[in-house]
Amino acid sequence: MAAKKIFRVLGFAGSLRKDSYNKALLRAALELLPEGVEMETFDLEGIPPFNQDLEGNPPQKVTDFKAKIRGADALLIATPEYNYSIPGVLKNAIDWASRPYGDSAFQEKPVALMGASIGMLGTARAQYHLRQCCVFLQMHPVIDTEVMVPFVSDKVDSNGRLTDANTKDKIKGLIESLIIWTQRLKVE
Ligand SMILES: Cc1cc2nc3c(=O)[nH]c(=O)nc-3n(C[C@H](O)[C@H](O)[C@H](O)COP(=O)(O)O)c2cc1C
Repeated sequence: MAAKKIFRVLGFAGSLRKDSYNKALLRAALELLPEGVEMETFDLEGIPPFNQDLEGNPPQKVTDFKAKIRGADALLIATPEYNYSIPGVLKNAIDWASRPYGDSAFQEKPVALMGASIGMLGTARAQYHLRQCCVFLQMHPVIDTEVMVPFVSDKVDSNGRLTDANTKDKIKGLIESLIIWTQRLKVE
């Protein structure tokens, strides 16, 4: 009998901060995966500023990032909000992995978005900017589930563990939506 195919998710956070709340969301996601789903996380630390002169021969870290994206059935991005938009670290990584033109790793990739901020809007503004990037990248963001986590400093303990049950439920729901969404996109 053929083994059931594993659904592979690649998660990454748009923060390099050691105690990042958005990394905490990703760690929580790792504990909320349904059966048959595997998730790996990728740390954007070490990706240099994008330079188009180098896009044909990118740094190894970028090559690795693109290979991980391509190897995943779907992506899960946890974005902070910086000045009402996505952090430069995240945009920079996206820019690298989208290049050179015609060799984007993101083409047709299903993606789920989430984000946590210490403020009251929980990265809503950043996530809508990220969705705008998804348009040009021809990615398919989940549309029926949004995870915007406000006042996150009250929801993560001193060990960096997400403690808020409601937020955990939302992340679980987002992953489930991502799987259903990916299956729907594959239907001819
Ligand atoms: C440069 C900068 C800009 C920020 N701008 C916003 C903002 O526009 N909206 C918001 O809710 N929080 C803002 N914050 C606060 C972030 O929500 C907070 O630093 C959060 O912890 C970042 O995510 P992380 O913990 O994953 O690194 C900003 C923080 C920085 C460092």
